[in-house]
Amino acid sequence: MPILGLSTKGPSAPAHFNLESLIRPNILALQPYRCARDDYSSGMLLDANENAIGAALPANFVPGLEAEDVSALNRYPSPTHDELKRRIAKLRNVPDEKWVFLGVGSDEVIDMLYRCLCVPAKDNILTTPPTYGMYGVCAQINDVGIVKVPLVTKNGAYQLDEAAMDAAFVANPDLKMVFICSPGNPTGTLIPLDVIRRVAENTKFKGLVVVDEAYVDFAPEGTSACSLVTQYANVCVMQTLSKSFGLASIRLGFLVGSPELVQILTNAKAPYNVSLPTAAIGLQAFSEEGLAIMAANVRVLNANRDALIAEITQIPNIGRVLGGNHANFIVVEILKDGKPDTPRAKAVYTEMAENRGVVVRFRGSEIGCEGCLRITVGTEDENKTLLARLRELLV
Ligand SMILES: Cc1ncc(COP(=O)(O)O)c(C=O)c1O
Repeated sequence: MPILGLSTKGPSAPAHFNLESLIRPNILALQPYRCARDDYSSGMLLDANENAIGAALPANFVPGLEAEDVSALNRYPSPTHDELKRRIAKLRNVPDEKWVFLGVGSDEVIDMLYRCLCVPAKDNILTTPPTYGMYGVCAQINDVGIVKVPLVTKNGAYQLDEAAMDAAFVANPDLKMVFICSPGNPTGTLIPLDVIRRVAENTKFKGLVVVDEAYVDFAPEGTSACSLVTQYANVCVMQTLSKSFGLASIRLGFLVGSPELVQILTNAKAPYNVSLPTAAIGLQAFSEEGLAIMAANVRVLNANRDALIAEITQIPNIGRVLGGNHANFIVVEILKDGKPDTPRAKAVYTEMAENRGVVVRFRGSEIGCEGCLRITVGTEDENKTLLARLRELLV
């Protein structure tokens, strides 16, 4: 069955991949909702039951929006935000806006992937714990099974266990997706592009390789799997403005993938999922100036991360900083009698949050994270306070 609305084609490799056969038949057959703005967006707009007078807001209430955006707040936003997508396409080096899908954070993109690809109570996906929790939550919401192939965690390597994944592909030939988080959360560790390439080329896996790059801007340049998207129809990449761009509150994430996949997601999404204020702020973030500020902030946070690692490892009863440290957080062991100790890590976490005003994340119950806390890199001052509080507790 053809993909409704598709106007450009993406890569045809690898030969063993067929997207249409992965998509739920009801989604493939879906006649997308046609919203008013899909038809016309200029003229006297009496087509969408909007408020003809305008927004109920005090004058100048919305800071940072252009006057024309403020006066359009009573209108539904663009269903496509093509200019924003074009800027993302340019930055991530894919041909055009047809290769970009926008979501209300990458969390919405994750959910959309499940809803478009996975038949509830039938299909399965693969994750590689320790990993981002929403893959599991969305699987449960959508009644999708999870095959878990833990990362190789020895000495905090946090790399894919390719042999075990291969065995899982043989045992589960109908897997719909593999989620590869790179740099990983909570591991902070990049998965090299050759490894991702090998998963994409593995003929035993017929599903979609979803690379979650929420933290990729903190990693060295040239490590993004966006470079694979134009070569492999079965590779897509999710990114977000919540981390390197510091815009978690606007809820903007995106997927870079083949036009076929983007079209399917677009057909199934809510008509106006991304709001005008969000898109307007996103456009500014992707301006030359915005990108330069993002890069400068990343440099500062990465320097703060390196300084934090150097200092935190001097504190008694702090063990190793695990993983590759390619993100804006670190994973660190709390020791008791020289060994990582999960109950002590939990106690430190609770004491810090409840009595010392510093909130980190307990991760000791995750596979390969025994006795670990995950600590977001702060400003210089925040890191100083964090280190002082840890010293008080651990020395
Ligand atoms: C790996 C990973 N993916 C996705 C997300 C969600 O990002 P967003 O804010 O775009 O929904 C997070 C947030 O912490 C994350 O760590």
